[in-house]
Amino acid sequence: MALGSDQSDGAALDRDLAGLLEVETFDPPAAFREHALLNDPAVYEQAARDPQAWWVAQAEQLEWFQPWERVLDDDDPPFYKWFVGGKLNASYNCLDRHVLAGRGDRVALHWRGEEGQERDITYAELLAEVQRFANALKDLGVGKGDVVGIYLPMIPEVVISMLACARIGAPHNVVFGGFSAEAVRERMEFSEAKLLITTDGAARKGKTAPIKDRVDEVMGDLATLQKIVVVRSKGTPCQMKEGRDVFYDEIVATADPDCPAEPLDSEHPLYILYTSGSTAKPKGILHTTGGYLTGVSATHRYVFDLKPDSDVYWCAADVGWVTGHSYIVYGPLCNGATSVMWEGAPDYPHKGIWWELIERYGITILYCAPTAIRACMKWGADWPNKHDLSSLRVLGTVGEPINPKAWLWYHKVIGSERCPIVDTWWQTETGAIMITPLPGITATKPGSATHPFPGVFAEVLDESTGEPVTEGQGLLVLTRPCPSMLRTLYKEPERFLQTYFSRFGRDTYLVGDAARRDSDGYIWVIGRIDDVVNVSGHRLSTAEVESAIVAHPDVAEAAVIGEHDEDTGQAIVAFVTLQGDLAGDEQTVEGIRATVADRIGKFARPKRIIWSDDLPKTRSGKIMRRLLRDIAEGRALGDVTTLRDPAVTAQLEERVKELRAAED
Ligand code: WTA
Repeated sequence: MALGSDQSDGAALDRDLAGLLEVETFDPPAAFREHALLNDPAVYEQAARDPQAWWVAQAEQLEWFQPWERVLDDDDPPFYKWFVGGKLNASYNCLDRHVLAGRGDRVALHWRGEEGQERDITYAELLAEVQRFANALKDLGVGKGDVVGIYLPMIPEVVISMLACARIGAPHNVVFGGFSAEAVRERMEFSEAKLLITTDGAARKGKTAPIKDRVDEVMGDLATLQKIVVVRSKGTPCQMKEGRDVFYDEIVATADPDCPAEPLDSEHPLYILYTSGSTAKPKGILHTTGGYLTGVSATHRYVFDLKPDSDVYWCAADVGWVTGHSYIVYGPLCNGATSVMWEGAPDYPHKGIWWELIERYGITILYCAPTAIRACMKWGADWPNKHDLSSLRVLGTVGEPINPKAWLWYHKVIGSERCPIVDTWWQTETGAIMITPLPGITATKPGSATHPFPGVFAEVLDESTGEPVTEGQGLLVLTRPCPSMLRTLYKEPERFLQTYFSRFGRDTYLVGDAARRDSDGYIWVIGRIDDVVNVSGHRLSTAEVESAIVAHPDVAEAAVIGEHDEDTGQAIVAFVTLQGDLAGDEQTVEGIRATVADRIGKFARPKRIIWSDDLPKTRSGKIMRRLLRDIAEGRALGDVTTLRDPAVTAQLEERVKELRAAED
């Protein structure tokens, strides 16, 4: 149901949303609850009474080649092992079992290209392609345990590549297509990847960006990387290095069509995914097979109330982030879902493309980031109102806190007040959704991720005492092992312990987010407590951006903070000191932004650069970011007497004022 014309006028819609805000909680619609997979709140108590039995029931939904002997090995916390002794294969669970059960003709992916191209790929077709490519990888010398890099845009080959790796037990290391070639090189180096799968070029809003040639510029001297497979996707000319580079289509054409899935230990590494931490060096999050698949398939089924025979599911994330891994690839395919995969941006070829896709494919479940909702909100309700969105029945969000206004807009304009909203909190580390409403059970509150998923145990701990907070703010932690959690940081077990288990001990996983518990026990995730910023749902470390900025030859020192931003959640602001007497101008700003784009990716470029002759530091030389945040956001500064040079802050405050005045 589209809104009436009077309501598509912004002021009327604002009044409506304000009225909705007074409602405070939203019960699951009765019609939805009646047919929901889970609609009895007793499931929470059952899972809490015996969490292992709950996870066993979920693991039993998978196909195992060999049953496990022990559900949870917790002899050496936090190095847990799940379903020990069991053997399975992720690609078998995502493909073969559906085909063997007679569902081979079901569409697994409705792929849609930027220019309207369409490819519908059935489970049987996906299985055939994955087997061929898995054999081709073997022919190139990839074996069980070898790390394979994947740097591909949103094309079906990215899914095929991931599943082909999983089939032969080669952990994949996917790098988001928005990262620069330099960032890919770093991730290939850290993981000692043997082979990289990339493409000739990628579609970017009507243009084509060269990919392979950019990769070549930086990858040349990486000794561990023996082969590069190039998917010919856009016909962009590229250099091929004799003996190292091969075209995907050529090796697949000659590969053997039969490649039985390798029976792998439950704890066999499925993938490494690099994410940002407090330091400049990204963390290699390691996920293994049995526990991860158990977590992603169970959450995908119950959080979205998936009915694979009738639903058409769309997760609008990029496959290169954990959301794509868990909720474009492994969760939905494991559950035999039909998904949509969209190659492009939300505003190309026009700002209504998302809603056009929903109508075109009859999408029933939409999962996206709040930042996208805020962008759509800004573009106006006229865009969605042009389309029939009546197929939708569940709406999800992920990646950052959703502000109540965006939540209500989603609820009203997109969901016509008919669809439950699931605000899902989780992380690359957790692998699967951890805190979320269940759409047939939970009364939702706009902005709250509500309660832990059954079998998950979360607490908010008082920052000073470490005691659980029953009402109020503190640090979010997970207090029991959970099958989908990371097993370690790849090659850095000490850093794993230090990062997550040094604050409250080895039994308590420190999430890195602050959260609030309200008087009804609802959890409200506030944001990071470390130096991680979240720009449009993209996770970045301030140290990572700083080290990219100081790579610019004119820069002496830089401090980066995340400031609140209406559109992107947080935006990057950099305080930069130039070398000697250099004065910063527009050209230097552009130069610095280009350096960041080269080192990390365009999405990491600072929104604002503030020149500073010096940075506020403690007497021991530590940069006081808290003060920088206050300065950037124009807040009154508290005590600055502990600073080495208190005069520094006054100068910066003045600069920020000038900048703001110029922006207005
Ligand atoms: C944030 C993305 C509030 C949080 C799946 C977390 C959220 C970080 C939510 C992980 C949410 C994610 N509400 N904050 N629903 N979901 N976050 O690893 O700060 O890219 O720690 O995983 O995003 O980001 P990551």
